[in-house]
Amino acid sequence: MRTIVTLPGDGIGKVVLDETIRVLNAAGFEAEYVEGDIGWEFWCNEGNPLPQRTLDLIAEHKISLFGAITSKPKDEAFGELSPDLKEKGLIYSSPIVGLRQHFGLDICLRPCRTYTGNPLNFIRRGPNDCIEEPEVDVAIFRQNTEGLYGGVEWSNPPEQVYDALMTHPKFKSNFGSAPVEDVSVSTRIFTKKYTERIVRAAFEHARKYGYKSVTVCEKPNVIRETSGMMYKMAQQIQKEDFHSIELWNTNIDAQMMWLTKNPENYGVIVAGNMFGDIVSDGFAGLIGGLGFACSAQYNPETGIGVFEPTHGSAPKYADYPVSIVNPIAMVESANMMLDFINEQDLAKKIKKAVADVVTEGKVRTYDMAKMSGRADVVKNGAASTTQMADAIIAKL
Ligand code: NAI
Ligand code: MG
Repeated sequence: MRTIVTLPGDGIGKVVLDETIRVLNAAGFEAEYVEGDIGWEFWCNEGNPLPQRTLDLIAEHKISLFGAITSKPKDEAFGELSPDLKEKGLIYSSPIVGLRQHFGLDICLRPCRTYTGNPLNFIRRGPNDCIEEPEVDVAIFRQNTEGLYGGVEWSNPPEQVYDALMTHPKFKSNFGSAPVEDVSVSTRIFTKKYTERIVRAAFEHARKYGYKSVTVCEKPNVIRETSGMMYKMAQQIQKEDFHSIELWNTNIDAQMMWLTKNPENYGVIVAGNMFGDIVSDGFAGLIGGLGFACSAQYNPETGIGVFEPTHGSAPKYADYPVSIVNPIAMVESANMMLDFINEQDLAKKIKKAVADVVTEGKVRTYDMAKMSGRADVVKNGAASTTQMADAIIAKL
């Protein structure tokens, strides 16, 4: 039997994960679950939100389902640290970013596909004032370990760094007159190995699932070195190995406009870390938002994969006596896990059950019912997290 590491984390992460495991069990997925410690509680009590024992568990079992964690700014994090740890010079950093870096989970896939009948679907005005509901079916490949989220940054950079920056004529002319203590630098580093890996993953996905295009969504006309490298590499890879798939090139800013104008035109999209984050949230908004946005992140060499909804811990809903949040993003993330471990039939079965519930429209969490997220929404007709999971189970 398979062992799956569960990483519930904080806030609503715990409930969406519990409900998802109920769905997996009901669908007949045979697995043993072991829970890994991650999140705020472990930062406060141990000074580490991602303890070594959790890393060991993931390294051993390879496949994890992750709920969500709470992150707070540095100073606030320090304030909540247990008093006996305050002298240790600990600095808080996000455990989910840490997890991606530690295991080199460089491929992040975020699919955004319209659910028929979802009242949250994007609509637009068409010719003669008719209302159109374009069908979105996009797979976003986000480079997950490098770029602007790579963590190589300084405020008041040390001397060698500052001196090196001063050797760049543009740094010297544009920033050279600012006092060094007023300068903050965040780097955007791309490497060939991981750029090639994300671009190839995007093309392979397009071929496997019959998408006609791969769009590089960056900004190569301005960010010439990094975005430029990704686009050039995509041109080469397309020419060598993927003739039948079209390669498109959009700028992130223009893409954010076009995705509401004609989202149905796009297939696979590939981007660096930050632009991938942005464009995937943009597309997620067209198919129902955070209650529906799922993701897979994995390292193709080691086979380690972490599957998680893109939403956070939503602390304001975490303490409601009856949980109201939508578990679909977490359930769909589990479906991505099933696909990854070659349990496609089970994944299909659960996907169909989710789609049936959404299309039927009888059971809707508060977000789908377009209510504001108060504790009394269930009294007013919205489904609770548990009732939504029950409805999915009933369709299996
Ligand atoms: P969030 O994603 O937790 O919540 C934002 C809002 O989206 C919620 O207030 C709620 O209205 C809605 N929402 C989120 N998940 C939903 C669901 N499943 N069903 C229905 N509605 C849902 O983002 P927020 O409030 O900015 O951050 C809260 C905490 O989560 C922060 O500490 C943040 O650092 C952390 N976070 C963690 C992430 C992760 O674990 N991967 C990702 C994003 C934020
Ligand atoms: Mg994001």
